Amino acid sequence: MSTEFAVELRDVVKKFVTPEGHELNAVDHVTMQIKNGEFFSMLGSSGCGKTTSLRMIAGFEWPSEGEVYIEGKAMGHTPPFQRKVNTVFQSYALFQHMTIFQNVAFGLEMEGVKEDEIKKRVGRALEMVQLSGMERRKPRQLSGGQQQRVALARSLVKTPSVLLLDEPLGALDLKLRKEMQLELKSLQQQLGITFIYVTHDQEEALTMSDRIAVMSKGKVQQMGTPVEIYERPANKFVADFIGESNFLEGKLKSISGNEAVVFVPILNAEVTGMPMAKDLVNGSDVTVAIRPEKIRVVENQSGAGVFKAKVGTSVYIGSDTHLYFDLNGTRLKVMEQNRISSLDPSTFYVKDEEVLFTFPPENTLILKKD
Ligand SMILES: Nc1ncnc2c1ncn2[C@@H]1O[C@H](COP(=O)(O)OP(=O)(O)O)[C@@H](O)[C@H]1O
Ligand SMILES: [Mg+2]
Repeated sequence: MSTEFAVELRDVVKKFVTPEGHELNAVDHVTMQIKNGEFFSMLGSSGCGKTTSLRMIAGFEWPSEGEVYIEGKAMGHTPPFQRKVNTVFQSYALFQHMTIFQNVAFGLEMEGVKEDEIKKRVGRALEMVQLSGMERRKPRQLSGGQQQRVALARSLVKTPSVLLLDEPLGALDLKLRKEMQLELKSLQQQLGITFIYVTHDQEEALTMSDRIAVMSKGKVQQMGTPVEIYERPANKFVADFIGESNFLEGKLKSISGNEAVVFVPILNAEVTGMPMAKDLVNGSDVTVAIRPEKIRVVENQSGAGVFKAKVGTSVYIGSDTHLYFDLNGTRLKVMEQNRISSLDPSTFYVKDEEVLFTFPPENTLILKKD
């Protein structure tokens, strides 16, 4: 068994019985391999099984089926304190009556670590999260972001090789959250610790992660780097959940390698795109997915790949203009970056004005219809 992986879940199922008496697969045949030193995120909306997966890695829950491996060893019913992982919870509950030093030292004291060793390690942990000098303060004398960093120091002081983080920035306001995202990422890189990070926030996952597992209803929908997940979503769920997509219905005409030709009735034309599933066959119904920012408005062009629409609404938001085109009754979202500074009214979009647009085949994805 290779120990290239810090943590591995193999075909893990977790069944719960709901208060209504139904059996539920909160985690439904999940397999993932998390590499040493990786920043790995589980991303999905509330209830998709992220916390349950993390709790099974930590040892607070045991799988109903399948197995969790840490550093190549099957964990079975190994209790949490005997696993080489440490958890930072969403509600970081610091001891309010204790100083920052005491809060961070607590776990080591419980383990009976010697006093001068504790001092050294707490000092180092506080240094890592940039809170040196705050040792004597009480939690309420710190900001929300600083308190979150104390919670982090409390985990880091145990020098775990894997840190599990369950929506650790959830309680912070947006600006602080963004700062902490970058801080956490650079801390992870410095320390070389494996981070397994749970979030429902797609931007957070894209910003921080080396790889992401997109989850829905207890299943992994796709696993990949942020670029792979965004540019090559495996299915309609991922294309819709991460960023935005326009979906057009069509029929597959032909397929060869990385090129699929689809007839799209609403365009009354064939479009070429990248096939995103292996089992697409000629004649089957498919969904064409196009990102709003990949659509380009053009002038005085015609021919294959150039289509006509009417402007529905256009919203100027400074950096971009968000447009809704009316495509024979279907709404098409288009995002245009405002590269040109102009106050000339004739350069702005007008409702019902006719426009021509095009989109590149390499950014047009052909998905299985579901
Ligand atoms: N102890 C439990 N008993 C029964 N159902 C549970 C229990 N824990 C979680 N669930 C259910 O399992 C599903 C996944 O929960 P969870 O892992 O907490 O999701 P997430 O962290 O992605 O929001 C949810 O439907 C939740 O209601
Ligand atoms: Mg959760």
